[in-house]
Amino acid sequence: MITLTIDGREIGAREGWTVLQAAQNVGIEIPTLCYHEALSSSGACRLCSVEITTKRGRNRVVTSCLYPVENGLDVQTNSEKIKRLRRGLMELLLARCPDSEKIKHVAGQMGVTEPRFRMEGEECILCGLCVRVCQEISEAKAISAVNRGIKKEIAPPFHDLAETCIGCGGCAYVCPTGAIKIEDNQIRLGSKIFKDLSPEEVKKMEEKFKSK
Ligand code: SF4
Ligand code: FES
Repeated sequence: MITLTIDGREIGAREGWTVLQAAQNVGIEIPTLCYHEALSSSGACRLCSVEITTKRGRNRVVTSCLYPVENGLDVQTNSEKIKRLRRGLMELLLARCPDSEKIKHVAGQMGVTEPRFRMEGEECILCGLCVRVCQEISEAKAISAVNRGIKKEIAPPFHDLAETCIGCGGCAYVCPTGAIKIEDNQIRLGSKIFKDLSPEEVKKMEEKFKSK
C-alpha cells in the first residue's frame, strides 16, 4: 500500500495505480477528456494535469492519468497554476470545437466561454480514444491518427472504408465529443466513412448504445 496526500488529504493507494486512479478511488474529481478506465492512457489532452511535490521536494506539473503513485507524494489537483493551465487548454479546445456540447460544458465549468483564438469548427479533439478502443478492445486496428501538426486527423487507411472494421461501434461509444457518428447505416467521422453497416449491425448497435 502506498500513502500519499491529495489536496491535503492523506490517502492510501495500490502500488501501480496512477494519481488519477488514486484520486478517483476516494472521490476526488480531476477533469479528463482522453481517459477511459478500460483503455491505456495516452496523456493526449493534458486536462488531468496536477501539481506534485515529491518526497525530495521536487515540484512539477504532471498528467495524473499517467503518473504513478509514490510514497510521500503531495498532490494539488486545483492549485492556481493548474486552474490557469486547464483554462488555457479548454480555450484551445473550445476554439477547435465550438459546437461540441461536451467541450462547451467542460469549458463552462472552468469559466471559459469565449476563447481568444480563431474558431475552427472541428468536432474531433484528437484525444485518440477511438483509436485505442479499436486497437485494445476490438483488436481491429481499423482507424489511426494520421499526419502531423495541424494536419493530424483520425482516419481509416487511405481514407477509404476500413477493411478490418468489425462494425462494433466502440469508437463512437467512447468518443467524448460525439464526432464519430452512426447514421445513415454508416460509422463516420465527418466525411470519412469507416464502415457501411448492415441493418442487423445497426440494430445491435442501437441496443448497445441505449445504456450510454
Ligand atoms: S473522433 Fe472522438 S474519440 Fe476519436 S480522437 Fe476524435 S474526439 Fe477522440
Ligand atoms: S485525461 Fe490525462 S491527459 Fe487526458
